[in-house]
Amino acid sequence: MKKDVSSIEAALRQYLPQRDDYIRTVVDSMEYSLMAGGKRIRPMLALAFSKLCGGSEEAVMPFACAVEMIHTYSLIHDDLPCMDNDDTRRGKPTNHKVFGEAAALLGGDGLLTLAFETLVCEQARRLNGAEKCAEAVSVLAKCAGAVGMIGGQIIDLESEGKQADHEILRIMDKKKTGALINAACQMGCISAGASEEQRKAAEQYAYHIGIAFQIVDDILDVTSDETTLGKPIGSDAENHKSTYVSLLGLDECRKISAELTEKAINALGTFEGDISELVNFAHYLLHRNQ
Ligand code: IPE
Ligand code: IPE
Ligand code: MG
Ligand code: MG
Ligand code: MG
Repeated sequence: MKKDVSSIEAALRQYLPQRDDYIRTVVDSMEYSLMAGGKRIRPMLALAFSKLCGGSEEAVMPFACAVEMIHTYSLIHDDLPCMDNDDTRRGKPTNHKVFGEAAALLGGDGLLTLAFETLVCEQARRLNGAEKCAEAVSVLAKCAGAVGMIGGQIIDLESEGKQADHEILRIMDKKKTGALINAACQMGCISAGASEEQRKAAEQYAYHIGIAFQIVDDILDVTSDETTLGKPIGSDAENHKSTYVSLLGLDECRKISAELTEKAINALGTFEGDISELVNFAHYLLHRNQ
């Protein structure tokens, strides 16, 4: 799936707005974070589920890019001083360090709205039809919004300075991280015209890799180094964050994330096509070091 990164990045660049002298700063801010690298795991998942369900890469690409735009906006805002107050991201200074807080806020807003423009762009409508585009809008809006990623972010902030229990952590991680991962998988299925049963299986896969992904992120915040990770380590402890690591310790977290990965892989059993890419991907996410 790594070979998909260059086609995803070419498509992302092409969806950025035309720059003129009047709006240059905000488009620069958007481009700075969107094109800064990153693993691109969400668009890769959209492409992989579309392929598994018999869809076309060209048709799913606008959906894949839209979820990466939302994700990038969430990172810009997550790094702001009013949230996690971090200085590096994707191996570079954070957006607000370069453009200032106001332009970082607006660059994030610009990416959020560009995502929905992209879901219904001419290419998306021509290749998927209006109905699938409308469904993708509905899924991405819900997963990114107050019952999804944004909801998870408020639980994260309100859990600072105390130890949230296992149940709250599961809900928090399902929302703040799992929801966008699920949106990516679902939009791959939608573009390909997958069945209800396939959509449910994709949701189960996304749920389990989503929580595992955040637990691994929390482990790496303790065990990695800034050069490898591209973002600061020790940020969670500094902000007194409630995480699975602060509740259960590293060893238990490694065990739980491995179990969740196995459950994700089991959910793929209902697909008839070649699931090996998505099996390998779940393992890559578990063993990644960045
Ligand atoms: C970081 O996401 C934020 C979390 C949800 C844990 P990624 O680890 O996917 O970040 P990039 O896109 O590779 O920079
Ligand atoms: C962020 O979780 C999840 C988002 C929705 C952005 P973190 O705050 O742990 O993500 P990082 O570690 O800064 O990438
Ligand atoms: Mg955060
Ligand atoms: Mg953060
Ligand atoms: Mg983190």
